[in-house]
Amino acid sequence: MLDINKIRKEFPMLDNKTMQDHPLVYFDNAATSLKPSCVIEAMNDYYYNFNSNVHRGDYDLAAKADKTYESTREIVAKFINCSNNEVVFTSGTTQSLNLVAFGYALNNLKENDEIILNEAEHASNILPWYEIANKLKLKIVFAPLNSLGEVDISSLEKLINEKTKIISIAYVSNVLGSTNDIKTITKIAHNHNIVVVVDAAQAVPHKKVDVKDLDCDFLAFSGHKLCGPTGIGVLYGKYDLLCKTSSMQLGGGMNAKFDSCQNMLLKKPPYKFEGGTPAIAEVIGLAQAINYLNNIGMDDIESYEKELKHYAINKLKELDNIEIYNENNDSGIIAFNIKNVFCQDAGSYFNSQGIAVRSGHHCAKLLPNFLNVIGTVRASLYFYNTKEEIDRFVEVCKHGGDFLDAFFK
Ligand SMILES: Cc1ncc(COP(=O)(O)O)c(C=O)c1O
Repeated sequence: MLDINKIRKEFPMLDNKTMQDHPLVYFDNAATSLKPSCVIEAMNDYYYNFNSNVHRGDYDLAAKADKTYESTREIVAKFINCSNNEVVFTSGTTQSLNLVAFGYALNNLKENDEIILNEAEHASNILPWYEIANKLKLKIVFAPLNSLGEVDISSLEKLINEKTKIISIAYVSNVLGSTNDIKTITKIAHNHNIVVVVDAAQAVPHKKVDVKDLDCDFLAFSGHKLCGPTGIGVLYGKYDLLCKTSSMQLGGGMNAKFDSCQNMLLKKPPYKFEGGTPAIAEVIGLAQAINYLNNIGMDDIESYEKELKHYAINKLKELDNIEIYNENNDSGIIAFNIKNVFCQDAGSYFNSQGIAVRSGHHCAKLLPNFLNVIGTVRASLYFYNTKEEIDRFVEVCKHGGDFLDAFFK
């Protein structure tokens, strides 16, 4: 059981903040989460007390920065159940997925190979693959979705052939909150020597993710969606695959040696991917965020979010002016529209009532075809949200149509 009152006190953004003169209700957690004080303080502590570069200095401060920075790798490794040398620090999910596309795929795939995606994916898990497809003359194939917006496993299996080399797929969709059966997909894929890349931006913050259990080959996530800072993310990769992945950034910190004859020897993964001065304070903040989530407990976080979602859905279903698109999906994302109201007008209306939601395509610009809508409003919940906030949100939903749709009638 979460101690929600205690938790809320730990987030400065939940301390009597207002928006448009209403108490703030923050329901845009899929875009970015709020940060607890311990994360902000850990980053300040670095800047106030042991500011120095990492992997370079021979003095005490630098040693402390090194130790704190590298201990984060261990915290991340334990969090997702992999080895320390399989954790690459990136700037976020987008950079992690680009590293797989440009560092791995560009060097290991060839003309006419195929990559399987699906229409629910975020731009970060589509556009890098389009670019690689253009460069290598590959084929992109879209796996059909079932009525919940999950990749349909039997249809996916039918798309696989000897040219299929990569399946890249979100664990949890950022629009519908639908959860793909990654474990089954990796099992099928590995029978055909296909590499599975998992976009876990919306999964790692909300549930226990075990890369060994999933047996995925690469997995990407962002710190800022799990109570950590912006500008830091992770690429997990099986070590042998990281060895086959080229570095996108060459420079200081990632090379073992080089000479004037253009010879260079790079460090081993993960260091060969981390050229230049890294986001030190952000890495330190990420460690705190993961410790914070671990202290609360990922299973409790997951079950509380499900409880909140069901509570919200049951209340929203009582309203006849609300169209819900993902009633049966078991995550904290609610995709909906106020009937006859353009989603972005609805977003502005929620803002006027102090409620932060997102509206539009949510960077998944192919999904509206599947849903047959122009866009959706997304209320995305996290473990610090409450049923009282949902009650306020539902009250506001009730009146959305009065204010906006007069000209439609
Ligand atoms: C499913 C999914 N993938 C990728 C991203 C991109 O994450 P970032 O902007 O942190 O790189 C997001 C962000 O919303 C997302 O929800």
